[in-house]
Amino acid sequence: MKKGKKLYEGKAKIIYATNDKNLVIQYFKDDATAFNNQKKTTIEGKGVLNNRISEHILSNLSEVGIKNHLVKRINMREQLVKLVDIIPIEFIVRNIATGSLTKRLGIEEGTVLERPLIEYCLKDDKLGDPIISREHILTFNWLNEIQLDWIDENLSRLNDFLLGMFRGVRIKLVDFKVEFGFTHESEKNQIILADEISPDTCRLWDTLTDKKLDKDRFRKDLGDLIPAYTEVAKRLGILHEQSNVSVVNVTRLSSVKRKKK
Ligand code: TMP
Repeated sequence: MKKGKKLYEGKAKIIYATNDKNLVIQYFKDDATAFNNQKKTTIEGKGVLNNRISEHILSNLSEVGIKNHLVKRINMREQLVKLVDIIPIEFIVRNIATGSLTKRLGIEEGTVLERPLIEYCLKDDKLGDPIISREHILTFNWLNEIQLDWIDENLSRLNDFLLGMFRGVRIKLVDFKVEFGFTHESEKNQIILADEISPDTCRLWDTLTDKKLDKDRFRKDLGDLIPAYTEVAKRLGILHEQSNVSVVNVTRLSSVKRKKK
């Protein structure tokens, strides 16, 4: 697969064209941002870990019939994925109250929700990704009723699957954000899950201690983000002991190689 020109650069990933018009390469950067880019840094090794964790989760989702864009991981930082037109909506599912939900509605931090809560945000950095309702989505034709119902159903399946997967490795899935897109393949307008599912896009707490194992370590200046993401990867069976060192070493090796060119 030949890597072509850069098509899009986001805050944490870059998309490159390939010689197949329906496939693109998704490159995971080490950049970390929060609060709509106001807080920004580079955390060496984060992209490598998110690439591995997201690959693991999305390939497991394919096995249970939740269609997504992943074709295969290519190397430490890149995945081959299906080209989609991203729906400009961030779909959030919450099981425990924290983050913007507690701020917006005054719900007490850590409240276990009686049922999973789905929220929609418009994906627009300039507007600060405002929360929107189902009616906004239908009124502005971002999706029709059948598409939105289908996505809601999939979010519920996805939440059940992820809750179980993380519970099995002693992690509480507090909340997560996902994105969907329309494929360009023969079955036109098919909606599939896209983007990534990783500690950047989920809140993950250790079951026993409630220790945060996700991007809140950066958002809240808690430090030790790489050990936390590595812990998630190890518990999921992706990395083995000593891997904390190897993730950083591989990153260093690849940057040395790049500089030599
Ligand atoms: P929030 O509590 O800040 O609204 O975040 C809810 C979930 O969505 C949490 O798991 C973090 C994730 N998220 C993203 O992945 N990207 C974003 O831009 C935002 C605001 C949240």
